[in-house]
Amino acid sequence: MSADRALDWSGRVALVSGAGSNIGRAVALEFVRRGAAIVLAGRDEARLQRTLAAAGAPGRVLVRAGDLAQDGVAESLVARALEYFGRIDAVACLAGGGGGDQALLEQSPAAWEGLVRDNLFTSMRVARAALPALCASRGTILFTSGGGAWFPETNARHTAYATAKAALCRLTDQLAFELLASGVRVNCLQPGLVLNEDDLARVESEESVLGAPHALRASNHTPEQAAELALWLLGSASAPLSGRLVATDDPWWHSATRAELERIQADPHAYTLRRSVI
Ligand SMILES: NC(=O)c1ccc[n+]([C@@H]2O[C@H](COP(=O)([O-])OP(=O)(O)OC[C@H]3O[C@@H](n4cnc5c(N)ncnc54)[C@H](OP(=O)(O)O)[C@@H]3O)[C@@H](O)[C@H]2O)c1
Repeated sequence: MSADRALDWSGRVALVSGAGSNIGRAVALEFVRRGAAIVLAGRDEARLQRTLAAAGAPGRVLVRAGDLAQDGVAESLVARALEYFGRIDAVACLAGGGGGDQALLEQSPAAWEGLVRDNLFTSMRVARAALPALCASRGTILFTSGGGAWFPETNARHTAYATAKAALCRLTDQLAFELLASGVRVNCLQPGLVLNEDDLARVESEESVLGAPHALRASNHTPEQAAELALWLLGSASAPLSGRLVATDDPWWHSATRAELERIQADPHAYTLRRSVI
């Protein structure tokens, strides 16, 4: 596979959840820039319409708003995508996000479950609905984890988010194993800190008081950096990786050779969650 073919998505179709903001929006726009047709999914129609307008690719972008954790929504999204474009080659599950920031006893069970639903159930439902089409195209799936999955110190009051993101890591390697014979690859993105527009506005207002750069600037990534890795994981350049988690902060993937990827893929214990071993 040539480098050009790995970057060029012309003639292929990607479905992006969480496409109305921040990373999902950047992933959607990068797919359009590389020639793909895309389906934008999320709850807020107005935000999806803003991504559609920014894409500036009439006829290549479809918008479908709805709560992806609800019965039938992911299935109707996939049906519409197939009706319109005839195939699905990549599914990027970016829907989710943090929130809460409450200790377990402060958070209602409904709010806790809602966070798990928005991060984990939406991803499972979209991937499941698209699976027959992905098997036909030998396509790829991307889930999105986060540091909360394995670093408790990232935020001590984050049990729901951390649980959902850790579960997404396991969904990644378990589903990849289940799909070994199908040719469908499944990987997981760890984007690192990517401040959205509201966060950046807050940071800027604090900086105007501080008169100095905010501490978060040092660890922040742009949505485009996360999108670059997302498309690498969804594209042929990352083959044969499947069932793996890659972080924007890991520099190796930019230059990894096929032999190195094969070595990672051959290690059955590359992902160990937080298992203790002596
Ligand atoms: N940003 C970071 O620093 C960071 C770090 C690590 C991991 N992540 C993960 O990366 C992903 C994208 O992050 P982000 O910063 O781009 O998040 P974001 O700006 O909060 O966007 C999340 C998107 O998910 C959509 N969504 C949430 N629940 C949904 C549901 N039930 N059905 C349909 N759509 C739903 C939202 O739709 P609405 O527009 O309708 O609200 C929103 O557009 C998330 O999974 C997040 O947890 C982010």
